Amino acid sequence: MGKLDGRVVIITGAARGQGEQEARLFVAEGARVVIADVLDERGEALAKELGEEAARFVHLDVSREGEWQAAVEAAKEAFGKVDGLVNNAGILRFNELVNTPLAEFEQIVQVNQVGAFLGIRTVAPEIEAAGGGTIVNTASYTGLTGMAFVGAYAATKHAVVGLTRVAALELAPKGIRVNAVCPGAVDTPMTNPSALDPAADPEETGAAVAELYRKLVPLGRIGRPEEVAALALFLSSEDSSYITGQPFVIDGGWLAGVSLF
Ligand SMILES: NC(=O)c1ccc[n+]([C@@H]2O[C@H](COP(=O)([O-])OP(=O)(O)OC[C@H]3O[C@@H](n4cnc5c(N)ncnc54)[C@H](O)[C@@H]3O)[C@@H](O)[C@H]2O)c1
Repeated sequence: MGKLDGRVVIITGAARGQGEQEARLFVAEGARVVIADVLDERGEALAKELGEEAARFVHLDVSREGEWQAAVEAAKEAFGKVDGLVNNAGILRFNELVNTPLAEFEQIVQVNQVGAFLGIRTVAPEIEAAGGGTIVNTASYTGLTGMAFVGAYAATKHAVVGLTRVAALELAPKGIRVNAVCPGAVDTPMTNPSALDPAADPEETGAAVAELYRKLVPLGRIGRPEEVAALALFLSSEDSSYITGQPFVIDGGWLAGVSLF
């Protein structure tokens, strides 16, 4: 018995990073998943590896309204219904607020914030029609506190926490629970872009990352995408049946406070 037996879940940004681990874990727990991403080759390869019975890839740019309906139709055609959504796709840019071009700010809003809104708006009626289910949004540690040089990103992640609370209130009568994961630093290409650079020395960059988070994070290390996937599983399964509208921080204790020693 898997924790997600019989469920059909769309996971955005699932071609790599946290979304990929969510797709792998959800399938291991009995779900059928739709891997929705703009990285077609990687997404197709992951779907193939997980098998046609359990996974399909669909091209979806979450910031484009028209592509959402097509993704839902593809999911229903493959698996008959949709009763879960993980809004995971996101982008990060580093910039001082006073130097951030409007186009850059708008691009981040469009993917992280508008993308989550479009996901909820398009998929919630399908989940209701399927008899209820779950939505997990991906906010961030920076959805609950500030961090210098990621102003646009932090603004969108605060917005995702707000969307989560309002969606939970509006969708509870329809049998849909809505929660958010708020990761701290997690070891994916987003925090460690050198992972995608064939010229980078993985040992050297790995050691630099380890040293940085050994000092910054109380648990002394960067998080693993599998750990975020485990939280998304909890929030998508019956184990969290009485929980809705909440942001869940998963950050190795980073947000707990400061320590002098
Ligand atoms: N890695 C971290 O430390 C961290 C911390 C807090 C929150 N997050 C959030 O977790 C989520 C996953 O990030 P990750 O760390 O796995 O990063 P990642 O960059 O490895 O993965 C992001 C995925 O989203 C996809 N994506 C980007 N734009 C898209 C779009 N317009 N439409 C569809 N897919 C798109 C990418 O192709 C990629 O597959 C993001 O929302 C991110 O903001 C990450």
